[in-house]
Amino acid sequence: MIPREIIDEIRARCDIEDVIGGYVTLKRAGSNVKGLCPFHSEKTPSFTVYPSSQSFYCFGCGAGGDVITFTMKYHSLDYAGAVEYLAQRAGITIPQSGEHEERGVPRKRIYELNLAVARYFRECLFDPVTGREAMDYLVNDRKLSPATIKRFGLGFAPNHPFALLQHLRSLGFTDEEMTAGYIEAKSQKTGKPYSIFRNRVMFPIIDTSGNVIAFGGRVMDDSKPKYLNSSDTPAFKKSKNLFALNYAKGECAERMILCEGYMDVIALHAAGFPYAVATLGTAITSDQARLMTKYTKKVIITYDSDEAGQKATDRAMQILGEVGMDVRVLSMSGAKDPDEYIKKYGAPQFSRLLDESKYGFYYKLDGILAKHDINIPEEKIKAAEEITYLISTFDSSVERDIYISLSSAKLSVVPEAMKNDVERKRKRSYRAAKAKEEQNARLAARGIGDKVNPDTAKYVAASAAEEAILGLMLEFPEHRSAVVSGRVALTEDDFVTALGKRIFSAVCELEASDGGFDYSLLGESFTPEEMGRMQKMMRHRRELSENGLDVLINSAERLKNEVNKTKIKNTDDRIAAIEAKRRRLKENS
Ligand code: GTP
Ligand code: MN
Repeated sequence: MIPREIIDEIRARCDIEDVIGGYVTLKRAGSNVKGLCPFHSEKTPSFTVYPSSQSFYCFGCGAGGDVITFTMKYHSLDYAGAVEYLAQRAGITIPQSGEHEERGVPRKRIYELNLAVARYFRECLFDPVTGREAMDYLVNDRKLSPATIKRFGLGFAPNHPFALLQHLRSLGFTDEEMTAGYIEAKSQKTGKPYSIFRNRVMFPIIDTSGNVIAFGGRVMDDSKPKYLNSSDTPAFKKSKNLFALNYAKGECAERMILCEGYMDVIALHAAGFPYAVATLGTAITSDQARLMTKYTKKVIITYDSDEAGQKATDRAMQILGEVGMDVRVLSMSGAKDPDEYIKKYGAPQFSRLLDESKYGFYYKLDGILAKHDINIPEEKIKAAEEITYLISTFDSSVERDIYISLSSAKLSVVPEAMKNDVERKRKRSYRAAKAKEEQNARLAARGIGDKVNPDTAKYVAASAAEEAILGLMLEFPEHRSAVVSGRVALTEDDFVTALGKRIFSAVCELEASDGGFDYSLLGESFTPEEMGRMQKMMRHRRELSENGLDVLINSAERLKNEVNKTKIKNTDDRIAAIEAKRRRLKENS
């Protein structure tokens, strides 16, 4: 538990508008400020910051909360991490309590562990006996210079089951810490601990603050798996980090290169392209794309030239486009990946390819034209079909116009004909999107597909009453005291959804505590998504003019009635109820 005074001080010193304004361009709108939501892609701002209540809410995606929730979501931190981050920003020291450590190994400790591991691997690599084969592999097979090996902090994990573990224990690290850090595992057969990375050349993954957060390791022959990567730990989330961003961040203002592999990145940096990064053995995620937008506006994708690489390129183009990145694609022939290409054709030639890299449209157009022989009329029709579809996906009519005249010339058809097809396809997909949106709205109204509170689908009316009650309680002190004092009879058991029950009891517990209720303190036991849901409930109440005690009482009654109805439905009473109704009908007739 973080002391309440610390939370109070953080909120006093970290004004939400200041903090969010550091990452999102905010424009004044009445007494609030608005901007483009950093948590989903949008073109018109629905992300609102409310200075008066020191909260934020996005009407588009439902993200919401206070300055701590924002920090958690934006920097992918847990509650304690976000508090620490803001405390540091505001110059507040958090007293270290023993309790703090009990909830798993702290991130800082994993950083220390990883640093010790990286040093050990490096010493092994540079040891003339232990590291001979690995050094030979890196220098002779992969053609890396000693300077590059040092710059990337490469190392070697010796083929020994526990030498590393013993070394780490001698430095004071516990087995629990090594397990949490994905350095040690236990044999399923014998129960004996062993080191996870063995007989591999090692690539440390370093975050933009310089912490070693994880490792990737490659075998030196053809054995499998070729690469072994750290899985997620308290210090590392694969889907939210990029390899070599720590080096690229200061070099990529103009453009960034995104490739598939560690070795591609290292080869590119060594060849004079220090603005290359790679995802960590997975397809690019929107978190990674957003991370990139903090450092650059333009990215060139240089994935492998095989089919898998091309599929991944399509997906990456889409994800990077969604966060507003200027995306280009480099076409490479004669080599599998950038590493191979540079070795074969040299850096100047690769530099030329970079400059020739194409906007998504031209890249896709080339792909379509390569697939069809447009000298054959039927093939030309197919190509035209795909191209008009592609053009129809662009929202700007200027862009569509430019691409239509360009591709109609390539296909030698009249632009008017293409234009008609494009507009027809746009109308069709607009109608389809609209229908989908309406369907989603209908499902949402019935609570289906609600990920934050999945129970709403089961109890539509009851959960609406729950939200009204909770909104009132979160927003107004008089409603909280009415419930806690027993003037309005409500207990946790009256609530039907699991989330509703949790929020209700947390609010009551805080209200009854010494310091009283404080929304910010909920952040420790609720996820950022749940914090956002509470914002929605409060926001909704604030928009309504009627929020008196009678509304609370009515909602409580409605909730209890609904619960009774559902109970009837779920038991044999249902049959009894039907029979009673039949009897009544008979008597009346
Ligand atoms: P080499 O040049 O052969 O060293 O590899 P590469 O960099 O060309 O890698 P490749 O195209 O085979 O794979 C691209 C990336 O995918 C690698 O850098 C790894 O991050 C990841 N990867 C490759 N093979 C494996 C594997 O077997 N397991 C896991 N988890 N990741 C892998
Ligand atoms: Mn390769």
